[in-house]
Amino acid sequence: MKPSKRSEIAPFLVMDIFNRANALERQGHDIIHMEAGQPGTPAPEPVLEAAKHALATDTMGYKPLGLPQLRERIARHYGDFYGLDIAPSRIIITSGSSAGFVLSFLALFDSGARVGLGAPYYPAYPNLLNALDCVPVIIPTSADSDYQLTIEQVSKNMHEGSPKGLDGLLVASPANPTGSMLSKTGLESLVHLCGAYDIPFISDEIYHGITYGHKSHSALEFDSNVIVVNSFSKYYSMTGWRIGWLVVPENMERSFQRLDQNLYIASPTVSQFAALAAMDARAELDEYVAVYARNRDLLLSGLPKAGFDAFAPADGAFYLYADISHITSDSESFCYRMLDEIGVAATPGTDFDTGARTARVRFSYAGKESDITEAIERLKKWRAS
Ligand SMILES: Cc1ncc(COP(=O)(O)O)c(C=O)c1O
Repeated sequence: MKPSKRSEIAPFLVMDIFNRANALERQGHDIIHMEAGQPGTPAPEPVLEAAKHALATDTMGYKPLGLPQLRERIARHYGDFYGLDIAPSRIIITSGSSAGFVLSFLALFDSGARVGLGAPYYPAYPNLLNALDCVPVIIPTSADSDYQLTIEQVSKNMHEGSPKGLDGLLVASPANPTGSMLSKTGLESLVHLCGAYDIPFISDEIYHGITYGHKSHSALEFDSNVIVVNSFSKYYSMTGWRIGWLVVPENMERSFQRLDQNLYIASPTVSQFAALAAMDARAELDEYVAVYARNRDLLLSGLPKAGFDAFAPADGAFYLYADISHITSDSESFCYRMLDEIGVAATPGTDFDTGARTARVRFSYAGKESDITEAIERLKKWRAS
């Protein structure tokens, strides 16, 4: 048997680090996990109760497009948080935002479509586009624009009627791996630019709810003709439940529905009941965010003492993206040494970018405060020796 060309996409290096960290742990080493982008907490208690109740009372059959009450509840969330009136028919429940991306790329782009995204990026964006025979057009961002795309940069890639122009734009704010955010006007201008060229704007809003003193804005505030991808994985602390959602324009509902029916039929039913309860568990979830905020403060003051002193602005999510170019250009070897020598697992910049710009390390701080304190101590001693 021979693998397809489309399967020849880059792996997630973070998974290699994660596997090695777990193997070391099984051998009895004390490992601090700062590599995986996931909360260290379970879903809140009412969510677990709702899941148990659903298992006991529902037949767990398919729920195509999603439980009506969950779609209605998510629509209401757009009213509560962004002052928007979104029809529940525009909400599609997905198996995490990952399935939302597959559906969106298939619904919006034909083979060869050129989709713009900023670097550093969440690795699945270019990898999935490549697997689907689209072309990721990677636009390097810089510290000047908080590692987010600017209207000037994207404008240069727009060529009306030209086969070399962009066929779509994908943006995340807060972003992974940087945690940086677009300003309200920055997001608005990119949405309007795509509107003017009549190309799809896809907004990854998975880290909404996890911000530190900044308000996150939905692309839907500026145009209803955009695609929003969201998930219960991060703020709602439900990564393994594999549940998320899309907001799609009215005229696209049927296209997404056809693809969803054929690709997935429906998302996990028990997770949908759990997700419904999660939407009303904000008090517990905001406590989780308060822990991330404390962890972030600890790292921002502690990491410079270990020689990591240049970070992307960590306005949201739970990552610190540290520049290590003054130490080494090889972030992969650096991360493996850090793991083997002091048991601190973090993700090398090679997952998120290319060339010289990979001399970075992403520290995820969604774990316990005591782990963060210990990691800082280990890093200080290691870098001093
Ligand atoms: C920016 C971003 N988008 C999407 C995802 C995928 O999340 P999920 O499929 O669990 O919803 C992740 C996961 O780390 C992410 O960081």
